[in-house]
Amino acid sequence: MDTVLRKAKIISIVNQKGGVGKTTTTMNLATALCAMQKKVLIIDLDPQSNSTSGLGIRNKDFKASSYDFLIGSASLAESVLETPIPNLSMIPTTMDLSGAEIELATVENKEYYLKNAFASLQEQFDYVFIDCPPSLGLLTLNALVASDEIIIPLQCEYFALEGLSHLMNTIKTINVSLNKNLTVKGIILTMYDSRNNLSKLINEDVRRHYGNTVYKTIIPRNVKISEAPSHGYPVIVYDPNCVGSRSYIDLASEVILQDTKNKTY
Ligand SMILES: Nc1ncnc2c1ncn2[C@@H]1O[C@H](COP(=O)(O)OP(=O)(O)O)[C@@H](O)[C@H]1O
Ligand SMILES: [Mg+2]
Repeated sequence: MDTVLRKAKIISIVNQKGGVGKTTTTMNLATALCAMQKKVLIIDLDPQSNSTSGLGIRNKDFKASSYDFLIGSASLAESVLETPIPNLSMIPTTMDLSGAEIELATVENKEYYLKNAFASLQEQFDYVFIDCPPSLGLLTLNALVASDEIIIPLQCEYFALEGLSHLMNTIKTINVSLNKNLTVKGIILTMYDSRNNLSKLINEDVRRHYGNTVYKTIIPRNVKISEAPSHGYPVIVYDPNCVGSRSYIDLASEVILQDTKNKTY
């Protein structure tokens, strides 16, 4: 029995754009941290359920989903599933979650559902990662209200910076209204192509604007990363030595160093 007392740090992986690497970052950062002996929980809060299927979990494998957890019909203990990866647990999801946004829309305190569900969070995890949907709707809002920090995956492409300033403004609004403690933990550049001038320009631009908030690690475009989910594994398990895996391990080291420096552990 694990008796180490932990205070889970809750981190949402957010970007209102789809296809920028949220799910990939959630799964691989989590898995890399697990390999470094951290206890991690992933909550799949995207009805597309990519991190659920990406970890090889099927609907028949679970009774309660993040939908049940969110609306309070299942406790944390009932919703959490062990994954085949040591130290990694998950609250999976199904398409039903897409109904939650509509169902919650008319209820009072609708932004606080996830935060309230966490009230039962035992001190059993070091990190909780919430894989958010590609919008700033009610599900993402619930994630941001429940979180201590956010990590923003930023795809090295033309409109990336516009979307980023919009997201930063949303965080400021949330700071004054719903969660004053929410901070941006870091921006991680994804799908970087060193042969592409645009990737280089975006890298320079983002660092000029956001300085130390941008992780030194850059995730390159790597075909192994895109192959891994169809095998039901994070790339770190699928091919531990490929450049994609190594970059996510570097990111996990940076995150641990950041948390050690900030004395949050
Ligand atoms: N660094 C990368 N190199 C190559 N393909 C990637 C990389 N990161 C993500 N992908 C692929 O791009 C697609 C979108 O990534 P995903 O993590 O699902 O984005 P999001 O969750 O933001 O929608 C997926 O097919 C994924 O496998
Ligand atoms: Mg996703």
